[in-house]
Amino acid sequence: MENTHGLASVAANISSLAAQARAALGPPLSASEQSLLEQEITALLSEQNAVLVAHYYVNSELQDLAEATGGYVADSLEMARLGLEHPASTVVVAGVRFMGETAKILSPEKRILLVESSAECSLDLNCPPEDFSAFCDQQPKRTVVVYANTSAAVKARADWVVTSSIALELIRDLTTQGEKLIWAPDKYLGDYIQKQTGADMLLWHASCIVHEEFKGEVLVNLKTQYPDAAVLVHPESPPSVIALADVVGSTGQLIQAAQDLEATLFIVATEEGILHKMRQSAPGKRFLEAPTAGAGATCESCAHCPWMKMNDLSRLAQALRHGTGEVLLDESVRAQAAIPIQRMLAYGRKHSGAR
Ligand code: 13P
Ligand code: SF4
Repeated sequence: MENTHGLASVAANISSLAAQARAALGPPLSASEQSLLEQEITALLSEQNAVLVAHYYVNSELQDLAEATGGYVADSLEMARLGLEHPASTVVVAGVRFMGETAKILSPEKRILLVESSAECSLDLNCPPEDFSAFCDQQPKRTVVVYANTSAAVKARADWVVTSSIALELIRDLTTQGEKLIWAPDKYLGDYIQKQTGADMLLWHASCIVHEEFKGEVLVNLKTQYPDAAVLVHPESPPSVIALADVVGSTGQLIQAAQDLEATLFIVATEEGILHKMRQSAPGKRFLEAPTAGAGATCESCAHCPWMKMNDLSRLAQALRHGTGEVLLDESVRAQAAIPIQRMLAYGRKHSGAR
């Protein structure tokens, strides 16, 4: 059973929000403008006892600035952990809204600022809390597992929250314990987990507008052209792409694979912002972007997440100057959503395989 109720109208809305995000991108900065902004941001972070935590998909200058100022670049699981554990009183999140919300859920006493508060995620948009709650109500005996790419209200309805770095291992364990599951929102990640674990899962029917553009039939040609290349795939990609992977994993796991594998050439099927960290951490190796074009391509995103790309130095400076983009949550929703996220973090601490 899959949920497809009402998703056509949501999909139209997502396209228009993605187009708005693309249109809102600022003009490129000159080298001197960039340097002045970096100096100002560095001073503001220090004055405000703030730390910058960036996702691997944001622009390289934000990734570099996070590290240069004592902050971090990480996958979504590590971002959640770092925001919680870091002693700073303000955490500035360069990523998308659900990442800022997760930080606030875990650290209600801290001020959490989003570089851009309208940075959405198509998975989150495609899982409205009321519809999802009604779906769960129809299957009260099932354990509800949701992906981190969801709103605080959806997390509050869940028994477990997972990220892609931990999902497979946890669901294998839950299945061994005989649990039947509801999974939301990513249908491709759900399908992948189901195939790998044999889990009894009812799938919500959403997708990532970036990863769903990768095309297995065109990737086959690229593999033929570069037979020695290893293929690294994020599990939000369609099954035809996952089937061609040498490694399937979260952003952090794919970066680790680029370092660990003997291959010196890689084809990468995930958002292109990750290539910056791959090149830094595996110098001397070469990385090709997996194809998003081909038969049936709409190229809605072409491996660029329009919302991740809204994060830039000008918006970051603005957030620190004026305290814009502060994440505020209803306390009862926050407290309820903290339970399944804490459960995930505790599970991750016990299982070394889950980075
Ligand atoms: P990771 O959990 O792998 O960092 O992925 C987050 C995400 O949004 C992927 O599109
Ligand atoms: Fe969401 Fe996809 Fe962007 Fe990740 S890449 S934040 S899943 S829209």
